[in-house]
Amino acid sequence: DIEKFLFKFKGYYFNRLPLDIGFIENLDNFEIRENDVFIITYPKSGTIWFQQLLSLIYSEDHRKGAGKLETMDRVPFLEYNFRKMDFEERPSPRLFSTHLPYYLVPSGLKNKKAKIIYVYRNPKDVMCSYFHFAKNVVSQFTGTFEEFVKQFLEGRVMGSLWFDHIKGWYEHRSLFNIQFMTYEEMKKDLRGSVSKICKFLGKGLSEEDMDAVVRQATFENMKDDPLANYDNIIAIGYGLNVKGHFLRKGTIGDWKNHLTVEQNERFDQIFQREMKDFPLEFIWD
Ligand code: PPS
Repeated sequence: DIEKFLFKFKGYYFNRLPLDIGFIENLDNFEIRENDVFIITYPKSGTIWFQQLLSLIYSEDHRKGAGKLETMDRVPFLEYNFRKMDFEERPSPRLFSTHLPYYLVPSGLKNKKAKIIYVYRNPKDVMCSYFHFAKNVVSQFTGTFEEFVKQFLEGRVMGSLWFDHIKGWYEHRSLFNIQFMTYEEMKKDLRGSVSKICKFLGKGLSEEDMDAVVRQATFENMKDDPLANYDNIIAIGYGLNVKGHFLRKGTIGDWKNHLTVEQNERFDQIFQREMKDFPLEFIWD
């Protein structure tokens, strides 16, 4: 039933509701600036978290708690333009987030014109987080967990097949100016991760500024911060009665509370088949 909310374009599933179809048809020509920064993720892999981090790194106002902008206004989605922003009018450096696969992004990115951080998360946790999101946040899915597992493993969800997304980006990494990072490394060492991000972006922050970034990017802080937790945003894009929260649990290994032994074995089999030559490591707990 989730499929009626999907829109397939060039082999990739978008969410139909917040999508501007005219915009994605011309995405290839969307002008990229040298100092644009993109966060690229498969859904439920740490997007909002990274939006908050980038915004804090780039905005002194935000670090000082003075800004009044919501995350969506600071680091908007490229393909889901909830606010109908004119991206060309935005001052540099522009920060963007996107769930696009490597082959659909603006061609300027393929010429290494801007910087990209690709954030990935172990796919069992992605799947569980996605189930709660589809069922309780945007309420586009009404089935059981088992039914969702099937849809996820067949790629019949916004973002299409998880395996294709990460492999596509990784295998084509030499075309892009790209840094890969994991949800789990951020969870285990947020400060170290912020340093790594700053190094890649060429941003020097003082110790005090680093403290401010880390403090405001913890799960607990973001969950209570109405500008960061997306509770207001969902209604704009999806216009639905929201039960759950984007910031749900924020842990590593929640899949152990969801998957049966049989589901886990089925997942492992597919994972091993799809990822057998893939060199990046995953952190499962
Ligand atoms: S989306 O829809 O693609 O934009 O969702 P995304 O932001 O990628 O993923 C949502 C999950 O990220 C968790 N999250 C965090 N975890 C730890 N720390 C912080 N600060 C944080 N911010 C967001 C969020 O809780 C979702 O994961 P689950 O497992 O469902 O809690």
